[in-house]
Amino acid sequence: MSRRLLVTTALPYTNGPIHVGHLLEHVQSDIWVRYQRLRGNECIYVCADDTHGTGTMLKAEEEGVDPEVMIEGMRREHVRDFRGFHIDYDNYHSTHSEENRELSELIYQRLVDAGLIFTRDVEQLYDTERNMFLADRFVKGKCPRCGAEDQYGDNCDACGATYNAIELKEPRSLLSGAEPAVRSSPHYFFDLPQYSDFLRRWTRSGAVQPEVANKLAEWLDVGLRAWDISRDAPYFGFLVPGTTDKYFYVWMDAPIGYMASFKNLVDAGGGVRFDDFWSPDAAGDTEVHHFIGKDIVNFHALFWPAVLDGSGFRTPTRLHTHGFLTVNGAKMSKSKGTLINAETCLEYIDPECLRYYYATKLNGTIDDFDLNFDDFAQRVNSDLVGKVVNIASRCAGFINKQFAGRLSAELHDVPLWERFIEARDELAEHFENSATSRGVRLITELADLANQYIARHEPWKLARVPERHDEMQAICSQGINLFRVLAIYLQPILPGMAERSRDFLNAGPFTWDGIDKPLLGHEIGRFQPLFKRMEKKDLEALVEASKIEADADAGEAASTEDDTISIDDFAKVELKVASVVAAEHVEGADKLLRLTVDLGGERHQVFAGIKAAYPNPEDLVGRLVVVVANLAPRKMRFGTSEGMVLAAGPGGADIFLISPDSGAEPGMNVR
Ligand code: 2FM
Ligand code: ZN
Repeated sequence: MSRRLLVTTALPYTNGPIHVGHLLEHVQSDIWVRYQRLRGNECIYVCADDTHGTGTMLKAEEEGVDPEVMIEGMRREHVRDFRGFHIDYDNYHSTHSEENRELSELIYQRLVDAGLIFTRDVEQLYDTERNMFLADRFVKGKCPRCGAEDQYGDNCDACGATYNAIELKEPRSLLSGAEPAVRSSPHYFFDLPQYSDFLRRWTRSGAVQPEVANKLAEWLDVGLRAWDISRDAPYFGFLVPGTTDKYFYVWMDAPIGYMASFKNLVDAGGGVRFDDFWSPDAAGDTEVHHFIGKDIVNFHALFWPAVLDGSGFRTPTRLHTHGFLTVNGAKMSKSKGTLINAETCLEYIDPECLRYYYATKLNGTIDDFDLNFDDFAQRVNSDLVGKVVNIASRCAGFINKQFAGRLSAELHDVPLWERFIEARDELAEHFENSATSRGVRLITELADLANQYIARHEPWKLARVPERHDEMQAICSQGINLFRVLAIYLQPILPGMAERSRDFLNAGPFTWDGIDKPLLGHEIGRFQPLFKRMEKKDLEALVEASKIEADADAGEAASTEDDTISIDDFAKVELKVASVVAAEHVEGADKLLRLTVDLGGERHQVFAGIKAAYPNPEDLVGRLVVVVANLAPRKMRFGTSEGMVLAAGPGGADIFLISPDSGAEPGMNVR
C-alpha cells in the first residue's frame, strides 16, 4: 500500500539569501521526497519563510520599507533559488500569513484551555531611548563571570558562560548606544514540564535518530523549564490574543508555519484535507516528516510535539536531523569566499553537481559534513561522468548508428542484469534513511561492473566483423539497459539528468516498480550529452565571486552607519561614456549578456545581467552607455568582465540602461 507523507524543511529566516548551508538540508529533503514519489507514494512537500522578530522590524525601519514588502521580496528570491536547485516544493509560503495567524491563535487558545499557559513577570534590559526591550543580541557588555569585554546578552565567547542579559556588567544597547535600564513586564509561558513524561516516551519512540534521543535524554534528565512564548511590543509578529502589547515569540509561530503552508496548499484544492494529516488520529494513516539541523532539535523534539499534543493535534512521525556544513574543512566564511550564496553558485556550476556531491556525503547521522572542493570535482568527474554516464555514451553511438536506435530483443547477460535489479531493496533502505552516501557508493560499484562488462566484450572490435553485429547490438543493448537502471536509481538525486536520460531512452516516465522491465526490441532516441564535467576553475571563480560579494556587503553595511561618501571616494570611480559595439547572448547563462564596449579607442568586455530586459541584444549595438571603467576585472565562468554598465530599475525585465544625451562621445568622462 502506498504511503501518504507530508514533508517539511526548516523554514529559512527572511533575513538573508539562501546559501550552500541551507541547500544541504533542502537538497537532502528533496532527494527524500523525490525518492518517495518515484516509489509511488503520495508525498506533499512544503516550506515557508520564517519572517517574524525584532530583526525584521528593525531592518525594515532602517530601509524605510514596510516589513511585508521586504519579506515578500526575500521570499521570492528564496523560491527562485530553490527552484534553481530543483527543490520541488508543492508550496512555499510565509509565517506572516493569515493561515499562520489563525492556527497560532487556535493553538494558543487550546493551550490556555488545557491549563498549559501561565504568566509571570520577567526582568529584561530596556532601551529608554528607543523605548523597547532588548533581545540578547541587541545588547553587549562585560561577561559577568570572566569580565571579557564586548559580550552579547546570552553567553560569553571567551569563557563559554551562559547568563541572563541583566547580569551583564556595563551593558549598552547596540541600537542606541545608551546604557539600558532593567524593567519588568508580564510574559506568557508554556508549561513544558507538564510534558516531561510524554517527551521521554516520544523521544524514544523511534521518532528521532538514536544519537539525537541520547542528547535529548540529557536535557530531560536535567529537567525541563517553562518556555516563554511571548515578546513585548514593538515586535514584528502576531499579537497574543487578548493583549495589545504582547506578541508570539518567533519560535512559537515558526513551526506552526509548517501547518500553515500545508493549509494554504490544501485550501487551494486538490482533495487532500487538513485533518488527513493533522487530526490526532491521523497518525495511523499519514506521516509527517521534518528535516532539520541539529542546532534546532530542542524546538522540534521538545516544544513542538508538546505544543501539538497540548492543542489536540497529531505529533510528527519522524525528525530527520543533520549536522553542520563546513567548506574545505572550516566554518563557512564570507571573507574566504566560502559562504556561497545559491544565486552565485548557479552562475558558476551546474546545480546538479552540488546535489550529487551532497548525496555522496549524506549519511543520515548528525555528523558534520565537509564540502571539499578537490573531492567535489573529483567525485563528479570520475564517478558520475567517468563511470555512470560513460556507460551510455560508450554504447549509444553504436546503437544509434548501426541499428537505427533499435535495442536487441533479449538481454545478453541476465545474471548481471539481475544483480542490478537486486540492488533495489538495499538502495531503498539507504534512501529511506537519507544514507545516500551508501546508495551512491552502491550505484558506483554497479557502474564499475557495467564498464568492466563492456570492456570485456569490446563491442567496438565487433563493429568490423559484420557477422558478429547481432552480438555487438546485444552487448550495447545490455549496456544501455544497465545505464537505465542506474539513471532511475539516481533520479531522486539528479532529476535533470534523469529527464535527459528519459528523452534519450524514449521510454516514458521512470518508476521504481518498472525498474525490472528492460527495454527490449525498443527504439531509443538520439544520444545527447547527459552530464558535463566540472571544471576546477569554475569553483575557483565561484569563490572569487563570493569574496567580491562579501566585500560589497561589508561596504554596504559600513555605509548604512553613515550613508555619505566623501568626494575623494567618488573621485575614485572612473565613469566613462562608451558605445556598445557588440552584444550577444552567453551560452549557458540565464541572465547575462556579453557586451563589447568602446571607450574611445579602448575596448572592454562586460558581462551584464540584463538579458531579461534586452532579449534582442543586437538592438543595443551602437547605443551609448555609461561604464565604470576602472572596476577590477572579475573572472566569471564565461570569461572576464572588465567593467560595469550603469542601469536603473529593480531588476529582471525592469532594467533600464542609462545613456547620455546625444552629442556625448565614447571615452568622455562622466562627472
Ligand atoms: O533556524 C532557523 O533557520 C529557523 N528559521 C528554523 C525554523 S524551523 C520551523 F520551526 F519553523
Ligand atoms: Zn566570560
